[in-house]
Amino acid sequence: MKIFHISAECYPIAKVGGLADVVGALPKYQNNLGATSSVIMPYYDNAFTQKNNFKSIYESKLDFNGHKIGYNILKTKAAVLDFEVYFVDIPNLLHKNYVYSADDTDRFLAFQIATLDWILSFKDLPDIIHCHDHHTGLIPFMCQESFKYKSLNTIPVITTIHNAQYQGWFGYDKLHLIPEFESTKTGLLDWDHCINPLAAAIKCAWRVTTVSPSYMDELKQEANGLQDLLQHESNKCIGILNGIDTAVWNPETDHYLDHKYNIKTLEAGKLANKLALCKTFNLDESKPLITFIGRLVHEKGADVFPLAIKKALEDENCSVLVLGSGHDEAEQALLQLKENNTGLYNVFIGYDEKLSHNIYAGADFLLMPSRVEPCGLNQLYALRYGTIPVVRSIGGLKDTIVDIDKNEGFGISHKEVTVAQIYKAITRSVDLYNKTTIFKSIRKHIMTIDHSWDVSAKAYINLYQSLKK
Ligand code: ADP
Ligand code: GLC
Repeated sequence: MKIFHISAECYPIAKVGGLADVVGALPKYQNNLGATSSVIMPYYDNAFTQKNNFKSIYESKLDFNGHKIGYNILKTKAAVLDFEVYFVDIPNLLHKNYVYSADDTDRFLAFQIATLDWILSFKDLPDIIHCHDHHTGLIPFMCQESFKYKSLNTIPVITTIHNAQYQGWFGYDKLHLIPEFESTKTGLLDWDHCINPLAAAIKCAWRVTTVSPSYMDELKQEANGLQDLLQHESNKCIGILNGIDTAVWNPETDHYLDHKYNIKTLEAGKLANKLALCKTFNLDESKPLITFIGRLVHEKGADVFPLAIKKALEDENCSVLVLGSGHDEAEQALLQLKENNTGLYNVFIGYDEKLSHNIYAGADFLLMPSRVEPCGLNQLYALRYGTIPVVRSIGGLKDTIVDIDKNEGFGISHKEVTVAQIYKAITRSVDLYNKTTIFKSIRKHIMTIDHSWDVSAKAYINLYQSLKK
């Protein structure tokens, strides 16, 4: 079965968040199951592309905004990839040193058109086209309706929603950029009087998946305006929980860690990592180390959790380390906390892959007070590294973390995103840390929980198979 994943991000080539981790792992696990799964993504000018050599395998021009613009399909032999990746290089549009920007409508439309143009030239069409998020949301529509691509309409197209907050909306002034189709079909693109690529994908894809069963349920209640549409299309919607790449996220082999460990060496290993982190960030290592890693946005509770941390630090019974970047206000609030809390608190504003691995390894607890969390990968990485997740019970967090007060529980959860509830969750973490025997047995247990992609990669293959005629 020949599968193409089409995505704006793919780890380790270009990563902004969890989308990259998913697209960088799922194809590998699908190939382990006998499929031929590969990725088509934009060619960005970044550290990965600068370090590797590429060769052009296809070259053509596409009609875009009244012009013919050239594009190249590139491949690399980079050894870090376990599956084929095809890069769509469109100079002046995609070929930039960033993934997302203000002109994304044009950039990703051109990417989608070039991708279909190239696929159209194939002798053997793929069995499945699997699109990810709104950046590829017009592909299902174009395969179904654009005159030029209608011969692709026998290929099942799946759209996975990684985050329905972002829908890629644009105005009718850009309608002409979409390759020609019957004007009576314009309604398929529309939601609330603008062109909405995610809504178009929900209407036109053969199946719509999202990254956890609970998030699919929640989306039917609240999906940033698309809830009614999702309810209407619910018989083609399914939630499939994300997995993790256990080869990348393995504390025993993780090349980012100076102190590697496994379940047998867990206590010594975590302590060595914690001591190193506490030394670097000037934190009291005798206290439980509570951490946060992620985008500092409203969805992740970044407007509230700095206040909860402030309150917890007043008790002086934990150390806190935050890694993230995002909204200015949240960054400022987190930076300000450094002023009165030397020795107990620190923050690194920015994106740092290596540091994130070192935090999963050295932390005792990982906070995820998310308002919305379609799946969340951080809590799954934390489990694998023996770090106890402290989560708001929502979406994928609800599906993966069981509170310690419940039967066989191993995490700490709270219901609302409020200062009081996040603070309470932190105090419960400190209490658990102080019950050393239980604490140690929980962290040993969580390292054994299997969230590898094996199960979910199979679920996707079963879904594809159900669509083959
Ligand atoms: P989302 O995709 O919504 O940001 P996920 O939990 O699915 O959330 O995935 C986040 C991914 O991005 C994880 O791999 C996490 O380690 C990583 N990450 C987030 N923020 C940072 C950061 N500031 N530095 C390094 N890695 C980060
Ligand atoms: C999105 C979601 C996150 C999910 C990730 C990968 O960025 O916010 O919850 O884990 O996609 O599917």
